[in-house]
Amino acid sequence: MMPTSYHIPVMLRETLELLITDTKGIYADGTLGAGGHTAGLLEQLGEGARVFGIDHDDEALKETAGNISDSRLETIKGNFGYMSTLLPPDVHGKLSGVLLDLGVSSHQIDDPARGFSFRESGPLDMRMSNLRALSAHDVVNSYTYENLRNILFQYGEERKSGLIAKKIVARRPLESTEDLKACVEEVVRGPHTVKSLARVFQAIRIEVNQELEMLRKGLESAADMLRPGGRLVVISYHSLEDRLVKNFFKSGNFSGKQDKDFYGNLVRPMDPMFTKPRYATDKEISVNPRSRSARLRAAVKLEVEA
Ligand SMILES: C[S@@+](CC[C@H](N)C(=O)[O-])C[C@H]1O[C@@H](n2cnc3c(N)ncnc32)[C@H](O)[C@@H]1O
Repeated sequence: MMPTSYHIPVMLRETLELLITDTKGIYADGTLGAGGHTAGLLEQLGEGARVFGIDHDDEALKETAGNISDSRLETIKGNFGYMSTLLPPDVHGKLSGVLLDLGVSSHQIDDPARGFSFRESGPLDMRMSNLRALSAHDVVNSYTYENLRNILFQYGEERKSGLIAKKIVARRPLESTEDLKACVEEVVRGPHTVKSLARVFQAIRIEVNQELEMLRKGLESAADMLRPGGRLVVISYHSLEDRLVKNFFKSGNFSGKQDKDFYGNLVRPMDPMFTKPRYATDKEISVNPRSRSARLRAAVKLEVEA
C-alpha cells in the first residue's frame, strides 16, 4: 500500500528501475522515512523477497508502521553508517540492492519542534535522531569562532561565514531558531538573506548529524553488504554529498584519486552505471518541489574488487 500523499518519494520510477535486479532478492532502504520508496519497492518485489528498512528517527519508523503492513519488511532503528552491524549476519554480502535517499524528510523539516527550519520558531535542536547527543544548541553556543566559521564555510558554502560566526559568538546564548536567524539577517541583508539562511541552517544540521561522515561510512558499509552485481542507488540533495558519492563510485575512496593495482586495474568495489547524475523531470518538480535539488547516482557491485 502506498503511503499517504504527504511524502512523495523522489524519482521513484528511476530509483526502482536501477535498484531491482531480482524480484526475490534482499534489499535495504537505509533512509526509510515515511516508507515511500520502500512501499514502491515492495509492490514490485515478489514473495520470498526481504526488505530491511533503516531509519534513526523514531517518528519516521512510527510513520512507516502506519503506512505499510507487509511481512517482507523488517524495520530497524539505527544509523545507516553502521548498516553492517544493523543487518543480520546471514544477509551480509547477499543484498541485491541498497537505497540511500539522503537528508531530512518533509516531516522533520515541517515540525517546528525539531528546529530544522528558519521559517518557524523552534528550539535549536536539529537532531534527526534521539541517538545523537549533540544538538544545534550545543554547536552554536559552545564551538569556537574558528570552528563555527569553518563549518559555515565548508558545509554551507557560505561566503560570509566569518561575519556570521562572529555575530553568533557575540550574541550568545542563542536559544531558538529565531536567535540564529537574527544573526544571519544582521549580516546578510536584501534578496540574498534567504539563501544565506538556508546555507547556515544546512551547515549546522550537517554538523549536528555528522551527515558527511555517516555518508562515507554508509557507502562503504553498503558496498560490503551487496552481492556481486547488486546495486547501490543514492539520491543526494547538495553538492557536498554528491561529490562523496561520485568519488566513491568512481574510485572507491572519497578523494576521487583512482588507485590501480600491480596489473593496472582500478581498485574500487563499485562500478558507476553512468557518469553524470540524473535529475528529476520538470513535471516531477512541479508536483514535488523537494525533487528540484535531487541528484541520483547508481553503481553496481563488482565481482571481485577490480
Ligand atoms: C529524505 S527522507 C527519506 C524518505 C523516504 N525515501 C520516503 O520515500 O519516504 C530521509 C530519511 O532518512 C533518515 N536518515 C538520514 N540520515 C540517516 C542516517 N545516517 N541513518 C539512518 N537514517 C537516516 C532521516 O531520518 C529521514 O527519515
